[in-house]
Amino acid sequence: MNTLPLRLGVNIDHVATVRNARGGTHPDPIRAAHLAVLAGADGITAHLREDRRHIRDQDMERLKRQLFVPLNFEMAATSEMIGLAAQLRPHAACLVPEKREERTTEGGLDIIGAHASLRPAIQELKGEGIRVSLFVEPEVEVMDAACDLGAPVVELHTGTYCEAVLEGDEARIAHELARLRRAAEHGAGIGLEIHAGHGLDLNSVRAVAAIPQIVELNIGHFLIGEAIFLGLDEAVRAMRAAMDEGRAQVPA
Ligand code: PXP
Repeated sequence: MNTLPLRLGVNIDHVATVRNARGGTHPDPIRAAHLAVLAGADGITAHLREDRRHIRDQDMERLKRQLFVPLNFEMAATSEMIGLAAQLRPHAACLVPEKREERTTEGGLDIIGAHASLRPAIQELKGEGIRVSLFVEPEVEVMDAACDLGAPVVELHTGTYCEAVLEGDEARIAHELARLRRAAEHGAGIGLEIHAGHGLDLNSVRAVAAIPQIVELNIGHFLIGEAIFLGLDEAVRAMRAAMDEGRAQVPA
């Protein structure tokens, strides 16, 4: 098998979470984005939530103006966010489900149930030249639905797998990895570009990086937390090294 390169997208939302705790300008998520890029990030992801709890509109504008790597705008498929994406024109938009009461994105998009509302959103974003990805559960039928909706990319939700790793539940780890592998293989087979993310850390990332169809991982919370202890530069470099170790397990 020809090994595809694996990109690292660093999500900087939680730099903004810390900044907003005091209402000022420090720490600046755009400074973190620049540092992450210098440390080896291939792209930057930021989630502009409806309630602006971390990233704000001005952060997105500054990221778009200042970054020389692809910007991935994580967003709900609402008319407000689609309008903002059309103005901002980021490299990519990742559509996620969003509930006000959740602490983080809890599950993948219900793309089978929400076909009618997602189709025009995807078309509109694609019409603006934005690469659209759908954040989804790693299931074969969901890959078919994403393809049918005209999305070029899916991001597989790794949250359940990462929970199993944290619990050390070997049977569940094997089950969740098998789901991710099946979905990635099927999705790539029908022409989707496969990304993955959510909850990844240094213990969980290698096995996901070893899934050969996955070409991008988006990682945030662990890296920003680890930056408190190691600095962001070292945290990103350690993650990049773990990803490379995982990828090296793919037979050449
Ligand atoms: N991918 C998507 C679609 C997400 O919603 C998130 C969380 O914002 C991530 C990746 C990154 O997850 P984490 O912060 O747990 O690494």
